[in-house]
Amino acid sequence: MALSVAVLAETAKGEARVAATPETVKKLTALGCAVTVEAGAGAGSHIADTLYKDAGAKIAKDATGAVKGADIILRVAAPGATEVEDYPKGALLCALMAPHANADVVGAAAKAGVNALAMEYMPRISRAQAMDVLSSQANLAGYKAVLEAANAYGRAMPMMMTAAGTVPAARVFVMGVGVAGLQAIATARRLGAIVSATDVRPATKEQVASLGASFIAVEDEEFKAAETAGGYAKEMSAEYKKKQAELVASHIAKQDIVITTALIPGRPAPRLITGDMVKTMRPGSVIVDMAVESGGNCEGSQVGKAVVKNGVTILGYADLPSRLAANASSLYARNVLNLLKLFIEEGGTLNLDKDEEIAKATLLTRDGQVVHPNLITEQKESSPEDKPKTTRKKKEA
Ligand code: NAI
Repeated sequence: MALSVAVLAETAKGEARVAATPETVKKLTALGCAVTVEAGAGAGSHIADTLYKDAGAKIAKDATGAVKGADIILRVAAPGATEVEDYPKGALLCALMAPHANADVVGAAAKAGVNALAMEYMPRISRAQAMDVLSSQANLAGYKAVLEAANAYGRAMPMMMTAAGTVPAARVFVMGVGVAGLQAIATARRLGAIVSATDVRPATKEQVASLGASFIAVEDEEFKAAETAGGYAKEMSAEYKKKQAELVASHIAKQDIVITTALIPGRPAPRLITGDMVKTMRPGSVIVDMAVESGGNCEGSQVGKAVVKNGVTILGYADLPSRLAANASSLYARNVLNLLKLFIEEGGTLNLDKDEEIAKATLLTRDGQVVHPNLITEQKESSPEDKPKTTRKKKEA
């Protein structure tokens, strides 16, 4: 019998993405799956039910109908604990599970015998790049952050020389040059801004230069050793943070737009901009705090809000990928498809042991047990450092 795949409509408020597109439905069907899409699941991404139907899916009128007999359940955000209780025993659930924020959902999945897989725990190894949702979504988020900033900024981005005089180019400063930061730099450059950027990882210096931006950082001995083997940043010492704050304070006062993206796996986001630094920016300036859900890089930022402090707008939008839902869905759906291709054997059976490394890194629950090492350690230690994690931010080293 064909593997049954359910694609559910998102239930989280404001979530416009969907976990499968007509393109991936067609490919799943070709792999031997029978796909059922919950009615309206694609609406936020402008995908009508008829397009899924044309691609070979059945449409179920509600989630209960879609998950009936499902072997695989696809979502973007984690379901609620009560939703999971309705999922069939033995089903594989793929979603951005945000396991630290959703301990109850993980517990409910284990209890229901649902094998929950956290897409955001995909290991950063080259063969998993095509399944890496943190990258696919962060890239779009970095782009959208600049557009949101440009929109909130009451002035132009590029320099314009007109008969009535010259409009100066905006100065944009990007803090944290990972996937989101690199795209933010590239986008701000395309819009004609004068761009600078900072990071604590030395590898970023060359990347920043190659995008035509200037690099601003405290380049001491600690900086030279600040990257982990996994390519992530380490928490910096108090002494480094002090030097960094002094440098940032003088630079920020001259910026029109600041995009902050700095994250440290398994830790709260570093505080890079204080309220006093915000005060030095001129009215009309804009800060986008992309780390807002992990505690925030900027003092005063609030999740989902535009806050104005001393005339400076601080945007704390946590749904940037969802604001580009059609693209974000298409990339997320391909990430999921690439993952399923790993686990689906010829003849259309699901084998989670087919790739042990990826299964181990991503499966939170299996056969009625919580199995992920991060969660087991956490249950033992119940670490206060672990803040709820979210879409782009939340990976553990
Ligand atoms: P991230 O989202 O964890 O952090 C964003 C950036 O903030 C990082 O560049 C980090 O160094 C920086 N940061 C942390 N603390 C800071 C501070 N105090 N001041 C300034 N900046 C600070 O990073 P992301 O985007 O997930 O990328 C991390 C690394 O992983 C990069 O080297 C990226 O190229 C690599 N990567 C590897 C992939 C693979 O091999 N499959 C896929 C995607 C990314």
